[in-house]
Amino acid sequence: MWPSGWYCGVLLLVVSVASNTVEVVYPSPVLMETESSYWLQLARKELEEALHKPKLTNVAKNVILFLGDGMGITVGTAGRILKGQKKGVSGEEGYLAWERFPNVGLIKTYNLDKQVADSAATATAFLTGVKANYYTLGVNGKVKLDDCEASLKPENRVESILKWAQDANKATGVVTTAQVTHATPAGLYAKTSNRKWQCDTAIMKAGPDALRCKDIARQLVEDEPAINMKVIMGGGRQEMGEPLESGAEEVCVRTDGRNLVQEWKNSKAAQGKNYTYITTTRELRSVNTQNAEYIMGLFGDIHVPYEVDRNTSLDGTPSLKEMVEVALRRLKKDEDGFFLMVEGGRIDHGLHWGQPRRALEELLAMEEALEAALKMISLEETLVVVTADHSHVITMNGYPERGNNILGVVMNDDVEDHMPFTTLMFTNGHGFNYTWNGEKVMRRNLSGVDTTEADFEALAAVPTSPGSETHGGEDVGVYAIGPMAHLFHRVHEQNYVAHVMAYASCIGPYENDCERPVQRPENIYKHVKDLNKKIINSGGTPVATCSVALVSITLAYVTRLLRC
Ligand SMILES: *[C@@H]1O[C@H](CO)[C@@H](O)[C@H](O)[C@H]1NC(C)=O
Ligand SMILES: *[C@@H]1O[C@H](CO)[C@@H](O)[C@H](O)[C@H]1NC(C)=O
Ligand SMILES: *[C@@H]1O[C@H](CO)[C@@H](O)[C@H](O)[C@H]1NC(C)=O
Ligand SMILES: *[C@@H]1O[C@H](CO)[C@@H](O)[C@H](O)[C@H]1NC(C)=O
Ligand SMILES: [Zn+2]
Repeated sequence: MWPSGWYCGVLLLVVSVASNTVEVVYPSPVLMETESSYWLQLARKELEEALHKPKLTNVAKNVILFLGDGMGITVGTAGRILKGQKKGVSGEEGYLAWERFPNVGLIKTYNLDKQVADSAATATAFLTGVKANYYTLGVNGKVKLDDCEASLKPENRVESILKWAQDANKATGVVTTAQVTHATPAGLYAKTSNRKWQCDTAIMKAGPDALRCKDIARQLVEDEPAINMKVIMGGGRQEMGEPLESGAEEVCVRTDGRNLVQEWKNSKAAQGKNYTYITTTRELRSVNTQNAEYIMGLFGDIHVPYEVDRNTSLDGTPSLKEMVEVALRRLKKDEDGFFLMVEGGRIDHGLHWGQPRRALEELLAMEEALEAALKMISLEETLVVVTADHSHVITMNGYPERGNNILGVVMNDDVEDHMPFTTLMFTNGHGFNYTWNGEKVMRRNLSGVDTTEADFEALAAVPTSPGSETHGGEDVGVYAIGPMAHLFHRVHEQNYVAHVMAYASCIGPYENDCERPVQRPENIYKHVKDLNKKIINSGGTPVATCSVALVSITLAYVTRLLRC
């Protein structure tokens, strides 16, 4: 057995500190990289995998959608590299778990009225199968931002996969690190002409025309299909009318004085249903999924804290992974299958703040949650889709050396001001920092600055207010495995995602379309199983190994000693 990740990291660290040869550059774990034979063999293995690509055409009993909010292509690449570097290796050669999925496509994310999308209209697309206008949820393109009246018309309202799954008797749930009333989770259940209407106060501020519309938090505890969700986990106690934490920022405090958590509990109790409401890791760990039929976990006054800030004590907040594990334990109990959406909701927030480290750690937390989920389900009966709602204006640039710290800086002779710049930077954001030195415009001098810190804001070309770096408009990836995963195969409109999930599980618009070509050769299932094992066990890291890297570093050390 090869050493596990952390063990490898520690070994490399010890040797690199001792030898002082690995300054910023993480070594490649692949000793054979310079041999053509290595690349020939690697490609042959990949061809082999492609030739035996599983194509499961049975009906999916379960569907899990992992949504990385704002997880554009650049963040995926950078996340993949950081993943390796946290284990002490260069990282470029590795894979994120979903990057090993056999089916990949690209998604066009534009909204009906915007080239660059927001998370509400995109959620409407990939959850209801209908593309929509900027900032709107659960309504079609007839409804423009803030048009409460139009959003109330039944013919403008669209149903989501949450409803379709429930109609087919499946258990449903959502787990997010954002507020449970935030755009992406609300895309499952809310119908509104403005995603900001998370509590009644926001609607009151919008003026008299909006007063006929119901806030998103109330829709969560009063309306179908939200009230049937078996699992609701995320942040957002404030919007639900729970008492404010001391010193908490007020983003949407209820004016009506209602406590919607209490109302949710009361309604479950009135129906004689078992339910549990939890707010800490300790409580999450003590949930008895055998008894609890309905689980609501609210782990933040606003959002769930970022992974890098999270209080990991029992009285703190759980990781996304732990939330997903409990959610799946509950949802798997239902015989007719389940639909679960898991959102890495704060990849987006880290990026809006221009803080690459913060965002990438959220991405890796989502990957851990996915790996945990893959261990708990069977891919023969579960379609797993990983995608993003939209991209961000982050780019990966310069010509950094292989294995350069992905959160670090790069320098080359073509840089006219002869100052280092970060590999990851933004085209707009709060990290804008140009000054006039009396002669010319100067950008921030990053010499001696720790650019790997969570709070570091990478340079941006156009200034924005804090937290307001914008989304990006290019396509995002979609990665899929399990029954009908091969239906993702080219560039698709975003609304197509909902249709694949519904068709695969034979629900909603496709509930009468359950005829499937008979195709159950055992070797396909075996292949899927093997593939899953590979994805989980390799953790995406390449075949080769830390021991090899260790040898190269030791050799380098010895060489250096001899030279001295
Ligand atoms: C509901 O929970 C109680 C314990 O709190 C347990 O005794 C009972 O069996 C549960 N009912 C169901 C249907 O799980
Ligand atoms: C974590 O939360 C607990 C309970 O609120 C608190 O006592 C503890 O000091 C916190 N730990 C850290 C490191 O903030
Ligand atoms: C902006 O750059 C200047 C010059 O390098 C630096 O002194 C200052 O701290 C920077 N400001 C911020 C907010 O990073
Ligand atoms: C940037 O800062 C470093 C370290 O403080 C200094 O040596 C260098 O001269 C600075 N570069 C410029 C162009 O000001
Ligand atoms: Zn965003």
